[in-house]
Amino acid sequence: MARIHNVLFIGLLTFCFGSNYLYSQRHSVIPKPKKIKLAKEHLYFQDTITYSCENEDPAIEFLKSYLATHFSIAFEKTSKNADVEFKRTNSGKRNQHHLSINKKGIQLNYNSEEAAFHACITLVQLTESTENGVRFSHALIKDYPDFEWRGLHLDCSRHFFEVYEIKRFIDAMAFYKYNRFHWHLTDDQGWRIEIKKYPKLTEVGGWRNKTVEGHYSKTPRTWNNERYGGFYTQNDVKEIVKYAANKSIIVVPEIELPGHSMAALAAYPELGCLDTTYEVPGLWGVFDDIYSPKESTFQFLENVLDEVIPLFPSEFIHIGGDEAPKKRWKEDPFCQKLIDSLNLKDEHGLQSYFIQRLEKYLNSKGKQIIGWDEILEGGLAPNAAVMSWRGESGGIQAAKQKHKVVMTPTSHCYFDYYQSSHAREPIAIGGFLPLEKVYQYSPIPANLPRSKRKYILGAQANLWTEYMPTMDHVLYMTYPRALALIEKTWSRKAPLYKEFERKLYSKHFQWMESWSIPFSKASLDVKINALPTTLGTVNIECQSPDSTSKIFYSIGENIEIYNAPFDLNAGNNDSTIFIKSWAEGIQGKSRITDKKILLHQSIGSKITAITTPHNKFSVGGSMTLVDGVIGERPWKGDQWLGYSGDTILIHFNFEEKKKLTNFKIGFLEDNGSWIYLPQNIHLEKKIEEKWVVFVNSHVSAEQNSLKINENIDEIRIKILPNDKIEDGKPGGGHDPWIFIDEIRFEWK
Ligand code: ACM
Repeated sequence: MARIHNVLFIGLLTFCFGSNYLYSQRHSVIPKPKKIKLAKEHLYFQDTITYSCENEDPAIEFLKSYLATHFSIAFEKTSKNADVEFKRTNSGKRNQHHLSINKKGIQLNYNSEEAAFHACITLVQLTESTENGVRFSHALIKDYPDFEWRGLHLDCSRHFFEVYEIKRFIDAMAFYKYNRFHWHLTDDQGWRIEIKKYPKLTEVGGWRNKTVEGHYSKTPRTWNNERYGGFYTQNDVKEIVKYAANKSIIVVPEIELPGHSMAALAAYPELGCLDTTYEVPGLWGVFDDIYSPKESTFQFLENVLDEVIPLFPSEFIHIGGDEAPKKRWKEDPFCQKLIDSLNLKDEHGLQSYFIQRLEKYLNSKGKQIIGWDEILEGGLAPNAAVMSWRGESGGIQAAKQKHKVVMTPTSHCYFDYYQSSHAREPIAIGGFLPLEKVYQYSPIPANLPRSKRKYILGAQANLWTEYMPTMDHVLYMTYPRALALIEKTWSRKAPLYKEFERKLYSKHFQWMESWSIPFSKASLDVKINALPTTLGTVNIECQSPDSTSKIFYSIGENIEIYNAPFDLNAGNNDSTIFIKSWAEGIQGKSRITDKKILLHQSIGSKITAITTPHNKFSVGGSMTLVDGVIGERPWKGDQWLGYSGDTILIHFNFEEKKKLTNFKIGFLEDNGSWIYLPQNIHLEKKIEEKWVVFVNSHVSAEQNSLKINENIDEIRIKILPNDKIEDGKPGGGHDPWIFIDEIRFEWK
């Protein structure tokens, strides 16, 4: 035993929660434990630490390996006077543990294998290296998770990751007490799990002949013509499931149906609706070709599931259910006859029938199904759990029907969205989800009746990998956002964001570095806020999250130290200003952020009313439209206001009459992301308290400039959306998104 007490403080401490505690230190544990007290005394070790236990829980092996690799300390079992005592109890909340560190040693009491793992992770997070070993603050901790599902999803179809890379993903999850790995194993662009009865699923469906380069919406499209693919053998799967289980992580496999099934159709075309052959696509998106609901398809899927079920101890099997266009089913006489003979309402009823058949089958094998929220359409299968991704409403609807729910709304949980608008961010699908926004999330929807809260199992972030070809890239997109989400998924009383940031910057950035997690430091970038004023100026504020750092900025050649916000004036002619800013402090030098501002005549013009944009695309509110920052490509979601299905009304009040000569407005067109141009723009003026249209213009381009000749002080812009997106186009059957940015008026 090589335990060394911190002699100065021995005896000073009485160990209990409460007033006898002499000194409470700040801790940096993520997620925050329910109760934690640290004292300033320490327990020191070097060379060897001994332990005793009744069960050799996998957590012990984890701790042993951590101490060996990070501190070269041996962790050895002993029968008496152990430094660390592991003890199972039968009491407390689900997965509860107690951890105490005092001069006598370390005691870990826990009521499950998972709780033992949590206790060890907390202990690991409390390690501090010393010159020749390790030390721990004296501590008393009681902890348990509020939510039982703390998940991360990984899409291995769009890009394939080797077994060792999946283990890396699981390792990082385990460091932060995630406990569900949602493994997205099949999709259009690749079938990734060996099914012995259907070898072509991986021989044919596991490979694509080309992959689109750059963003989906890039024109002209170019291709990487290298054959791409891979798959997991059943032995690989067993290895990963066991590896995850040793870190208290349950692997939930997803076998997508009835849509996102092009890879399976390429292997076995008879499963589709058409008498044709299919290719594994190298393009992202949603495809019309889906499984046909014929008996032979059900037989095939049941046979597939017969091989999947024994590989995964998980209670749940994810059956997908999302984004299954109904075009083929509408056109197929067989499907139409089936709808009639089953007395179903429509194709949504047919999807519900499809899912219910598989639910029945899986239930008969002792498994439950979970599916994306589209499985609500046409009627939810009797025992299905729902993964709510298109906002919170699917989750609310399912919980009201007393079904279990995992929340993963795109607005806060899609980690394939940009985490920063910085020009150097690697290409992403679109959308804007900075760390701070993830931290605003709570898995319990605000408007869910209290009595239904118990149906919310927890939350999950999703890593769709169209634009993440490597595991380093996946981890960069995942961290540190996963730390924000785990705080909210561990505890309904997470600390304030400032406190989370303190822990992140003071401890976890270094910690993630030591674990070789290539995380993003985007949250340290200086934010350049451009706030238009009614005087036609733009007020510039530079903010760094590290209050101790010095902020610099430059406009043109001159570099200045930033002290306080300052104004930029609009000139007579439109002029473009480039601002750069960065911070230097204890975190080193941050990346340089830049902002381009077009100082136009109507900057800061007063918008007195506006149709509320969708909460996913509302950064900056109405000011976004008059701030001089012009929405750019690749769109990252922070420079545009986004609407879905609404007629958009925007009122301007100039407070005095102006001789308006020109009106300009920008829209974004990115059909792959379901963003389309609107139908028409109306400009309206008030005549006898009524709005009267004086310009009606069809929209056929992103940039619109309309000559006008009006002497008015008030104007209303009406933007009329198109109907639902046509079948056959991306997003067919859904409302199109409309993205607007800068609105510019010119006057004499
Ligand atoms: C999904 O993002 N299509 C579930």
